[in-house]
Amino acid sequence: MSAHAQRGKFITFEGLDGSGKSTQLEKLAKVLRAGGCSVVTTREPGGTTTGEKIRHVLLDSGTAGLSSQAELALMFASRAQHIKEVIQPALHEGKIVLCDRFTDSTEAYQGGGRKLGSDPVLQLHDILCGGLRPDLTILMDSDVAASVERARRRNKTRHSSRGKSDENRFEQESRAFFSRVRHAFLAIAEREPQRVVVVNARGTRAQTHAKIVELVRKKLKLAK
Ligand SMILES: Nc1ncnc2c1ncn2[C@@H]1O[C@H](COP(=O)(O)OP(=O)(O)OP(=O)(O)O)[C@@H](O)[C@H]1O
Ligand SMILES: [Mg+2]
Repeated sequence: MSAHAQRGKFITFEGLDGSGKSTQLEKLAKVLRAGGCSVVTTREPGGTTTGEKIRHVLLDSGTAGLSSQAELALMFASRAQHIKEVIQPALHEGKIVLCDRFTDSTEAYQGGGRKLGSDPVLQLHDILCGGLRPDLTILMDSDVAASVERARRRNKTRHSSRGKSDENRFEQESRAFFSRVRHAFLAIAEREPQRVVVVNARGTRAQTHAKIVELVRKKLKLAK
């Protein structure tokens, strides 16, 4: 999978639950499409039929007793399928792929949050993901309390009218867990400043969007 010579652009959004990744990803996709770019939006875990089934297992609060190692393995199972089925084909066609979470989330949540450490995550990435690296990663940084509160509020309205299924399993974690996640994200940004740009996600949607459009244009040298 080393032939990335002729390819599109791979942009990932990272950050805590409720930091605004999905909101900003959609806003960016709109702007890029309006500018004539061919854009694929997708998410992890998920993004394929198999991956969405894995997502359900991973995120549903009804999933009981999942070990941290099993959680890690499922994240990568979803990712390997996603890369093969969606991301690589789109990049080969020269498209811009906007992906909601990628390996940095696994390093932050399973490596940092669950304390498995970065090494197993990076090793699995090498083994299972063929060395695929984003061209740009937008790390949405905000306070733990504010982010998780936003996510919880959103989930309440989103799931109140549905059955038992939800995506709340991680949101039930402790403040200490999310604090480890946040610091693991920031450590990745320090380690890979060429790839990862930290965006202050505390402002309004419009303020954050303007920052992101600006940095994407700069980084990818897209025409205005
Ligand atoms: N800048 C903002 N100010 C206030 N509320 C916001 C802002 N950006 C997003 N929101 C709202 O906060 C909630 C969480 O945003 P969003 O779903 O985009 O976050 P996320 O990072 O994708 O979360 P998750 O990781 O849980 O999917 C949503 O209800 C969204 O409408
Ligand atoms: Mg989201």
